Amino acid sequence: MPVITNIADLKRIYERRVPRMFYDYAESGSWTEQTFRENTSDFDQIRLRQRVAVDMTGRNTASQMIGQDVAMPVALAPVGLTGMQHADGEMKAARAAEEFGVPFTLSTMSINSIEDVAGYTNKPFWFQLYTMKDTDYVSRLIQRAKDAKCSALVITLDLQILGQRHKDLKNGLSAPPKLTPSTVANLMTKWTWGLQMLRAHRREFGNIVGHVDGISDASSLGAWTAEQFDPSLDWGKVEKLMNEWGGKVILKGILDAEDAKMAAKLGADAIIVSNHGGRQLDGALSSIRVLPEIMDAVGDSVEVHLDSGIRSGQDVLKALALGAKGTYVGRAFVYGLGAMGQAGVTKALEVIHKELDTTMALCGEKNVAGLSRDNLLVPADFGGRWA
Ligand SMILES: Cc1cc2nc3c(=O)[nH]c(=O)nc-3n(C[C@H](O)[C@H](O)[C@H](O)COP(=O)(O)O)c2cc1C
Repeated sequence: MPVITNIADLKRIYERRVPRMFYDYAESGSWTEQTFRENTSDFDQIRLRQRVAVDMTGRNTASQMIGQDVAMPVALAPVGLTGMQHADGEMKAARAAEEFGVPFTLSTMSINSIEDVAGYTNKPFWFQLYTMKDTDYVSRLIQRAKDAKCSALVITLDLQILGQRHKDLKNGLSAPPKLTPSTVANLMTKWTWGLQMLRAHRREFGNIVGHVDGISDASSLGAWTAEQFDPSLDWGKVEKLMNEWGGKVILKGILDAEDAKMAAKLGADAIIVSNHGGRQLDGALSSIRVLPEIMDAVGDSVEVHLDSGIRSGQDVLKALALGAKGTYVGRAFVYGLGAMGQAGVTKALEVIHKELDTTMALCGEKNVAGLSRDNLLVPADFGGRWA
């Protein structure tokens, strides 16, 4: 067993173990991947302010996200096809999150269904909703999430149409994979993945297959989104969905101060400053770069969370110090899952937790609530002057 000391270690093992099609699916951004790259490189531009001779005993990373206790403010982001990265991937990741004490968010486009995850875990998880043209289906999904006692609905706003990721088209991404000569050649080098997958509860989109009719190709994410997602989603529809749900709502995919204000006005419990991990609008700014402007715009009127580009506890600390109350990891937990299943997700969380804790200590802080802009050195032009 290799010694794993950081998220990059998990990524290396993940790349070896998981079929290329699914590795590429996770490790891509849209078009030129500029936003995907800048999500991580912009975190690197912010530096940390070291403080010394501060009593660092009794540190604690615990806090709350939307009023729920968390061991650290780092949730697992909704990631489609997680159950293709590892057999029963959503169930395993949800259990790792539950045991660690952080929220798990199940994607609409998951392999394990809402019911699978509910049956495998003890604590409520969050459900991420994509809005579809078929409003009856959306209502049934919302009801299923209520029945499963999901404690928040995460409505994703930045994917009414799918950003193009070149590799997915070239690889013919599907769940389960279609057996072409090149996928078969690659699958033959991924025996462990394949054997585990044979015993998986599901290999198709669990929230969809058997719950809707009339899809031309239920295995293709591209076909499904093009045919079913609702391009007419607007704030009025968002409000209706929030009312239909009636519980806590997190609006995901906010990257603009005006949109953040609108989300706050609608009464969202939180917003996620996110560009979908650089997978949608290529050329958009990184999440961490727009965070200060959004904080200025909404103040305390809504809880602000952030994702996109987080690969370490230092990144988490930077987002928190700039005002976010919570963060999410997408790829960082997927690397762990693909590398080592549930234990790998736990490992990813442990790595991030340790980094957050140590970084906090060396910055002279004992609690995440104490973090502020004072802990950072931010380049004067970090926000940029964009006309
Ligand atoms: C492989 C993959 C699949 C994703 N699927 C979804 C999804 O189904 N729903 C959603 O709201 N966001 C989805 N996202 C976006 C994540 O929720 C999150 O915004 C993003 O991963 C954060 O960036 P990071 O991967 O750099 O942490 C996906 C991201 C990845 C990498």
